[in-house]
Amino acid sequence: FELQPYNTFGLGSCARYFTELVTVNDVYELVEHEWFGQIKHQWLGGGSNIIMAPVIDAWVLHIANKGIEVLSETDDKVLIQAQAGESWHQFVLHCIDLGYSGLENLSLIPGQVGSAPVQNIGAYGVEVKDIIHSVECFDTHEKKWRVFSNAECQFQYRDSFFKHAEHGRYLIWSVILELNKVFKPNVGYGDLEKVSIAMAQGSQMTAKIVSDAVCQIRQSKLPDPKIMGNVGSFFHNPILLEQKAKLLKQQYPSMPQYLQGQGKIKIAAGWLIDQAGLKGLQQGGAAVHQQQALVLVNKGQATHQNILDLAKQIQNEVLDQFDVNLHIEPTFW
Ligand code: EPU
Repeated sequence: FELQPYNTFGLGSCARYFTELVTVNDVYELVEHEWFGQIKHQWLGGGSNIIMAPVIDAWVLHIANKGIEVLSETDDKVLIQAQAGESWHQFVLHCIDLGYSGLENLSLIPGQVGSAPVQNIGAYGVEVKDIIHSVECFDTHEKKWRVFSNAECQFQYRDSFFKHAEHGRYLIWSVILELNKVFKPNVGYGDLEKVSIAMAQGSQMTAKIVSDAVCQIRQSKLPDPKIMGNVGSFFHNPILLEQKAKLLKQQYPSMPQYLQGQGKIKIAAGWLIDQAGLKGLQQGGAAVHQQQALVLVNKGQATHQNILDLAKQIQNEVLDQFDVNLHIEPTFW
C-alpha cells in the first residue's frame, strides 16, 4: 500500500498492510483480528511528523474517525470533544466560528487532532497542554477504554506520556479540550502582536484576527507541505542548563534565549543552524529551508537516506561550532 499521500514529507513508502479506522466497531474488530499482536502495527494520523522508510513491514492503521461535540459549558468555559481523525486546523477554525477561543495561536499546524497531545504541539507561546482537559484512548492490551487526565499525559516541551508508552499500546481516539467563551489575546510571542494589530485595522481584537495573523506569519516562513514536502521543525529547540546558555550568550550576544525556570534556558535551534551557515544545504533531494533553517524540505525525490544524511551533517556542524546536541523531532518508521 503506497503511503506517499499519507506523509507530508511526500516520501514514497510502501506498507505491508493498511486499514482505516473510522468507527468504534473498527477498533473492536481490529483488536480481535488474528493478526493483531502478531504483526507489528503503527498508528497513522496526518503523517505530518513521520519520516517513512521506502518499505514498512508493518500494519499501518490510519485513524479516520470524525466528530466534534460540546460536552458541557459554564459562563466562561466550554468542554469540547474532537475525534482523533479530525484535521487539527479545521477543528481550530470550527471552534473560532463557534465563538470559543484558546486555540487560535495553534492555527495552521498540520496533522490530526489525535496527534496533537503526542508531541504536545505548540506555537506562538501556546502549547496544547494548556488547553487539553483529557485524552480518550483505547488500551489494546487491556482491551478497554481509558481516559488520561491532563496530568496523566505528563506533558513536557514537545513530549508526553504517549511518546514513551509501550509501542502501539494506546490508540488515541478523541481529545477533550477546555476552551474560553471570553476571548483573551495571548500575543506576546515574536511579531504576533504587531501583525494582529495591523490586521485588526483599528477594530476590536478577536480570536479570528489572531488566527489569521498566525496563519500569515507561518505562511511567510514555513513551507506549505502541499507545495514542498516537510514535517515542520526537524529538531527540538535545545533546553540547556543556565550556566552553559550564559557562556554561549557571552560568545554570541545575538543568540535568542528563552527562560524556562528551574535553571533552564531554551535556545533556538533554527538560529544555530542558520548561524552555522547551513541554510540551503542539500543532500540529494532533501534541503535546509531558506526561510526557516529548522525545517528540512523535500525539493523533489528526497529519500529517507537523504534526510538521515542531512540531519546527521547538521547535528555534526552544530555540535562542532556550538557544542550543542540537536535532537530530532519527527518519528522515523
Ligand atoms: N531563527 C533564525 N534563523 C532561522 C530560524 C530561526 O535566526 O532560520 C531565529 C528567529 O529569528 C527567532 C528564533 O530563531 O529569533 C526562533 O525562531 P521562530 O520564532 O521561527 O521559532 P522556532 O523556535 O524556530 C518554534 C517551534 C515551531 C513554532 C514556532 C513559533 C519547535 C521545535 N518549533 O520554532 O513549531 O511554529 O516556534 O512558535 O519548538 C513545529 O514544531 O513543527 C513547529 C513549526
